[in-house]
Amino acid sequence: MAKVHFKPDNITHEVPDGDALIKACDGFDDITLGFGCTEGTCGVCELTIVEGSENCSKPNENETDYLYPEDIEEGMRLGCQVRVLKDEVTLTWKGNRAK
Ligand code: FES
Repeated sequence: MAKVHFKPDNITHEVPDGDALIKACDGFDDITLGFGCTEGTCGVCELTIVEGSENCSKPNENETDYLYPEDIEEGMRLGCQVRVLKDEVTLTWKGNRAK
């Protein structure tokens, strides 16, 4: 199991190694990261991997098409495309809705 820290929500969840983040988030009703198209074309799920990018899948073609290389360099990813591979990952994102 990997551990994912969802910084804006100040919550940590365990995610099975190799699972798609969006699949994991589907089961968590306390996470405010939003998803739209789920196919890597709308950008609603934009997030930044603060720590542990080496523990996630590499950016796929949808992400390299949608995001600027310099943003990817800084850890920006599309949440609907990322897979959590192992260990620990810390994520943050904008647009945290008020609780
Ligand atoms: S949900 Fe649309 S790009 Fe991820």
